[in-house]
Amino acid sequence: MTNRRPLELTVNGRSRSIEVLAHHTLLDVLREDLGLTGTKECCLVGECGACTVLLDGHSVDSCLVLGVEADGASVTTVEGLAVDGRLSPVQRSFLETGAAQCGFCIPGQLVSAHALLTDAPHPTRAQVEEGLAGNLCRCAGYEQIIEAVLMAADAADADAIADDDLAARSARLRALGDRAATPDAELAPQ
Ligand code: FES
Ligand code: FES
Repeated sequence: MTNRRPLELTVNGRSRSIEVLAHHTLLDVLREDLGLTGTKECCLVGECGACTVLLDGHSVDSCLVLGVEADGASVTTVEGLAVDGRLSPVQRSFLETGAAQCGFCIPGQLVSAHALLTDAPHPTRAQVEEGLAGNLCRCAGYEQIIEAVLMAADAADADAIADDDLAARSARLRALGDRAATPDAELAPQ
């Protein structure tokens, strides 16, 4: 008797029909069954956000969702954020601000940022902090990450980021942030 179950889902716009182990999480399915290793495995208890994906448009910790629970659903992973091979605005702004240090948390940060900007295209700094509160960064690069999300929101499109005077934009965003700064310690208690 096998403990495999059929699973049909759409991942990054592509229909997938596979058999998965009944106890496998959505994170296991993505990484092991579908080879999508952009989604990271870390705490496995819903604390760090490294495994964040969109499930029917809502951000979830994929380590807390059984694969079979995603049957019939649409999943977006970090690999699905780029459009036609072109990085999304938030991916580009993460690069421009140097938000990625070791990079381990970045896929989850990007997916959460994408979800935030979909719901609130012009978020306040407080909304960005709240939207990314479930994503921990052990390198503690929160300032650059928040700056990147605000920059992406501020850009009309990806080209605007490339063409703009990044130094001036960064200085302006830092000034905005300084007025409403929340200490990193409040974002990610150690
Ligand atoms: S690995 Fe899922 S929340 Fe940390
Ligand atoms: S960039 Fe290293 S954990 Fe976030």
